Amino acid sequence: MASIGIDIGQAKTLLEDEQVVGIPTETVYGLAGNALSEHAILKIFEVKNRPKFDPLIAHTNSIRKANILFKTIPQKATQLAEAFWPGPLTLLLNKKEVVPDLLTSGHSRVAIRIPNHPLTLELLSQLNFPLAAPSANPFGYVSPTSARHVDDQLGEKVPYILDGGESLVGVESTIVGFEKMKPIVYRLGGITLEALEHVVGPLEIAVNASSNPSAPGMMKSHYSPGKKLIIGDIAHLLSAHNSTTTGIISFSKGFDVPLENSFILSPRRNLNEAARNIFKALRKMDAPHIKVILAEYLPEKGLGRAINDRLKRASI
Ligand code: TXA
Ligand code: MG
Repeated sequence: MASIGIDIGQAKTLLEDEQVVGIPTETVYGLAGNALSEHAILKIFEVKNRPKFDPLIAHTNSIRKANILFKTIPQKATQLAEAFWPGPLTLLLNKKEVVPDLLTSGHSRVAIRIPNHPLTLELLSQLNFPLAAPSANPFGYVSPTSARHVDDQLGEKVPYILDGGESLVGVESTIVGFEKMKPIVYRLGGITLEALEHVVGPLEIAVNASSNPSAPGMMKSHYSPGKKLIIGDIAHLLSAHNSTTTGIISFSKGFDVPLENSFILSPRRNLNEAARNIFKALRKMDAPHIKVILAEYLPEKGLGRAINDRLKRASI
């Protein structure tokens, strides 16, 4: 069990000592360590059991501090940073020497974001280094949206978790990189495509599932609830399954299964609410009596795209 609290001083002391700390963000909880310390980065990989070819995001609390990490920034990246930071947007920018290769898995670009959570922004403002922070779950498993989730899975390996309440967005940041100055979306997330396009015009999307390590952030199988998940027409699928051992993740409608087998993402069909709930729903389906999970795609717009992406990866 980790110690859980709101003591920024304690988190700071541990991080300055190159240890790892669970931190809240508006997207999901992160497992943080000094992004400029190889020792701390190695610790993150070890605690998460994450392969070293999957690079980490560096978090800062200001564009001025982010400047230390990247060489150049395309104009459209500046526009996006100004529009969405602090917030659920990660930018891939050409890294400076000071950024350890371990953080970027040897890639020439570093992933950077300014998270929008008061506790973590305060912590970052008190530190003189950025924080590397992948989602605070064992590699491949569902991302955590509360301190409790972090404690449940990594508590034994993490000395302290800063408790900032439930994550208000609920899905990870949108990742945008640039090729020949053109923006490309590598991961669908908390900033919608519509919002990005409003600022920089049409974008290319390159989030096709792949297990190719040279395409980081696009790990084919991820967010795994540890059992079979089938996506389709729930009513139809349910007719061929035993309702006592079947879990159901639906958008707004209830189905004829026991209450403890069902998670309705948003009875009022609100995609933001559904995003806040998606990882909680996948976690609920971890209950041992559930043998198979049935789910349905949400409307492919707004945060629905990121939710559908997570469901798809959880189903592989
Ligand atoms: O919302 C978020 O982004 C959360 C919170 C904690 O900030 N963090 C998060 O980190 O989702 P993680 O490690 O679970 O996912 C980051 C993704 C990875 O899939 C990684 O491959 C990709 O970002 N990534 C990181 N650095 C990269 C780089 N230099 N080039 C390409 N992809 C990168
Ligand atoms: Mg993750």
